[in-house]
Amino acid sequence: MRKITSFIFLSCCIFNLAVSAQSSYSGGDTTVFVADKNAFSKPASNLALTRRDRFFIGNAFFKNPWVSAPASTTARDGLGPLFNTNACQSCHVKDGRGRPPNNNERMTSMLVRVGLPHTGDPDATKVAGVVADPVYGSQIQNRAIQGVPPEASVKIEWTPVEFRMNDGEVVTLRAPKVHFSHLSYGPLHEQAAFSLRVAPAMIGLGLLEAVPNETLNEIAARQASSDENISGRRNMVWDVELQATVPGRFGWKAGQPTVKQQVASAFAGDMGITSSLFPEQPCTNKQTKCISAPSGGNPEVSNEFLDFVTFYSKTLAVPARRNTDDEEVKQGEKLFQQAGCNSCHIETLYTGVDKDFPELSTQKIHPYTDLLLHDMGAGLADKFGEFEAEGSEWRTPPLWGIGLIRTVNGHTNLLHDGRARNIEEAILWHGGEAELSRTRYISLSKIQREQLLKFLNSL
Ligand code: HEC
Ligand code: HEC
Repeated sequence: MRKITSFIFLSCCIFNLAVSAQSSYSGGDTTVFVADKNAFSKPASNLALTRRDRFFIGNAFFKNPWVSAPASTTARDGLGPLFNTNACQSCHVKDGRGRPPNNNERMTSMLVRVGLPHTGDPDATKVAGVVADPVYGSQIQNRAIQGVPPEASVKIEWTPVEFRMNDGEVVTLRAPKVHFSHLSYGPLHEQAAFSLRVAPAMIGLGLLEAVPNETLNEIAARQASSDENISGRRNMVWDVELQATVPGRFGWKAGQPTVKQQVASAFAGDMGITSSLFPEQPCTNKQTKCISAPSGGNPEVSNEFLDFVTFYSKTLAVPARRNTDDEEVKQGEKLFQQAGCNSCHIETLYTGVDKDFPELSTQKIHPYTDLLLHDMGAGLADKFGEFEAEGSEWRTPPLWGIGLIRTVNGHTNLLHDGRARNIEEAILWHGGEAELSRTRYISLSKIQREQLLKFLNSL
């Protein structure tokens, strides 16, 4: 039996190697050919059978709800005292993306960060990246365990914003405004600024982590010397394990250096679960009931389980492209390049060698990102600084899998706060360094715009 499975495994990979040069293999040899609602939930196709158990244990801890302490399930207790939701999966729905709440719905698959203006003293933000609100901290937790008041209820109000295309067609976009009620610990600081963020999809994150720093620095240098007015840069953030400032890669403002630290910070900030990286509960010293609530262990998620969830988060496969031979898709790809979208959404990157992850090493991938921060203009700006990223700066998000979000998540909300209801709205919000790209997009004929969108939906 064992012989047979290893034979099948081997033959699949020889086959993979033979055809992986094709552009449909978005995630190199990790690519899976799945386009249904589980398209974001598969292990990397080249993940050895002997390593798949780690993926599935990690998956269980990602998917199953955590409970408050003390509880009989000690491996998964420690939720709260303050939290946003009780499982990673509730935000990263089906390993895909979150969305803003509809009218009167509770905010579940996104979160609101809070920060005061940076003082200019680099030491004040060196480790945390933000100046926290003295009472509420740096994230609003809208839920809490029994006996502890949740911080607030959050609602989003949408303001219509009209955009006129070159051919006279008017598109009505929407911009969010956040409202808080039931603020349990008194008013927020009068200078507090907010950053609304939906949960991004979980695919291909280990591959993005394996792209060498030199590659990203070279891209930044190339952009700086081109005449497209594009100047991506690295965010410089705190690495808790290294105790040093390093380039950031993950999160909407590239505020986290590694998948592991991003996972640990999600456990702490989003679910109130402490780890060796983040041993503190998300309570400020004004939140006394939060401080005195029972703990689920010290730390609440063990290093072993943190590693399983990190392994899982790094090895979720990227689904293959679809319809790559379609003439309109091919035409759309050319328009994508002509509009300069690929100055930031870079099609092809190569991963380096990660000795712990041979399956992610030396891969040719098509993520459509440069992982750099760009000034995207006033329309998309919040007033929230995160390490070196200013309010108007956002990290270019990867576009792989974007055409499958509807199938996986049942919506097509895009951008950091989910304000865009489809791909075209997302493009129309591009300003700042991407202004020229948007101008080129709106000068296209309707047929050409549809071709470009068809191309994006094939990713
Ligand atoms: C309350 C919603 C929420 C929960 C719960 C949540 N996340 Fe996230 N996740 C987000 C948001 C929002 C971001 C973007 C963060 C940012 O921009 O700072 C994110 C980003 C990430 C990223 C980086 C993705 C990227 O493309 O940069 C990883 C990895 C991740 N989360 C893993 C997890 C894990 C593991 C858990 C459970 C321990 C979890 N998340 C729980 C909302 C959530
Ligand atoms: C200057 C760099 C830059 C250029 C040029 C650019 N983008 Fe973007 N793009 C970004 C950034 C940064 C974001 C994230 C903005 C946000 O979330 O507020 C983004 C977001 C997107 C999104 C939404 C992705 C998601 O996950 O929510 C799509 C779709 C997109 N861009 C397509 C395009 C297309 C098509 C073009 C060309 C017409 C283009 N972009 C040109 C930087 C760029």
